[in-house]
Amino acid sequence: MSARGPVAAGPATASAPLLEARGLTKHFPVRKTRLAPRGAVVHAVDDVSLALPAGSVTAIVGESGSGKSTLAKLLARLIRPTSGQLLLDGGDIPPTSRVRRSYARQVQLVLQDPFSSLNPVHDVRYHLARPLKVHRLAGQGGDLDQSVADLLERVALLPAAQFAAKYPHELSGGQRQRVAIARALAVAPRILLADEPVSMLDVSIRLGVLNLLADLRERDGLAIAYVTHDIASARYLADVIAVMYAGQIVESGPAGSVTDQPAHPYTQLLLSAAPDPDRAQAPALRGRGAPPNLVTPPAGCRFHPRCPHAMRICADTPPAMTQVAAGHASACWLHAPDLDRLQRSPLAPGDPHISGAGERAAPPPPPAPEPGKET
Ligand SMILES: Nc1ncnc2c1ncn2[C@@H]1O[C@H](COP(=O)(O)OP(=O)(O)OP(=O)(O)O)[C@@H](O)[C@H]1O
Ligand code: SF4
Ligand SMILES: [Mg+2]
Repeated sequence: MSARGPVAAGPATASAPLLEARGLTKHFPVRKTRLAPRGAVVHAVDDVSLALPAGSVTAIVGESGSGKSTLAKLLARLIRPTSGQLLLDGGDIPPTSRVRRSYARQVQLVLQDPFSSLNPVHDVRYHLARPLKVHRLAGQGGDLDQSVADLLERVALLPAAQFAAKYPHELSGGQRQRVAIARALAVAPRILLADEPVSMLDVSIRLGVLNLLADLRERDGLAIAYVTHDIASARYLADVIAVMYAGQIVESGPAGSVTDQPAHPYTQLLLSAAPDPDRAQAPALRGRGAPPNLVTPPAGCRFHPRCPHAMRICADTPPAMTQVAAGHASACWLHAPDLDRLQRSPLAPGDPHISGAGERAAPPPPPAPEPGKET
């Protein structure tokens, strides 16, 4: 278990996690520039612990650049962690090629952009038949056609024969994303990592894809990680929400508890910025600063340069995860009852103790070439 503690489990997470991350960290090396000294790294993901139980959707929510996709790639083992551990069914994952292949089959990643994830020169049948053949999950001819039809039926692309013959350009964005999900399902995964699966889709068809993910959780018992910047869709779909800020999880718990009683000021910021047709006034926290530069993240609580409640202690000492309700935890000094007066003294804008504020305005340094391809 990491120093920051695991993501709290919600009510639907009674079963043991299929996949668990413990203290996952990814630091990307960057080239030396005026702003980035030799040996500088991007702190993309820092000490993240997370559990994905069967039959449950865990939303990973945060602003652009908070490390969501990097975390999804770490969970999919597409990139190697700087440190930390992944456990499948509670056990270590031995570094053999057989285990690597089996892991790649069991843990599937669906990407944000259904336009680029499908090859325009091949029809839907080709996209779905290929993984079935590669993993020897269907025979040839009629057997293969039936398996393709079954997959299309599972993602509600009917009549299946008609959709199997279509090319990507003949499909709507939502239909393309359904094909991408069907392709992931072809290898009978147990864990689905969906990285912003609806953010590029028209608002009118997003709900259909979210409902499809909900079906896969209920019908097939998949463990799903739903990566999104949209906390409103997370509230709709997820059982558990983990909120990420600047590479760290700052709040987690049952979706209803996190969205109805957000404990962390950053979650409050996200919720205040979420669309709400019933709200008469503009969100009070919207526009309050920008995420930090992750080459030199702020000391202490990484949110302190933007936080309306920031105190002296927040600028130099990172807060630990503290339980605030059943299964609901938040990393914030506001939950510590025993701070002294100096530690509690407010940080005003421009206070010399504030670190890392406004550095986002500088262009991020380019990544350093990494030796070899990561697996
Ligand atoms: N290969 C890389 N080399 C260097 N830095 C990287 C690399 N990949 C990601 N980063 C940096 O890591 C940080 C987290 O990026 P990531 O893509 O994980 O964020 P995100 O939350 O998915 O953002 P978005 O919502 O825009 O997709 C960013 O500062 C990004 O610039
Ligand atoms: S620890 Fe301090 S700066 Fe961070 S969210 Fe809490 S009050 Fe704000
Ligand atoms: Mg991303």
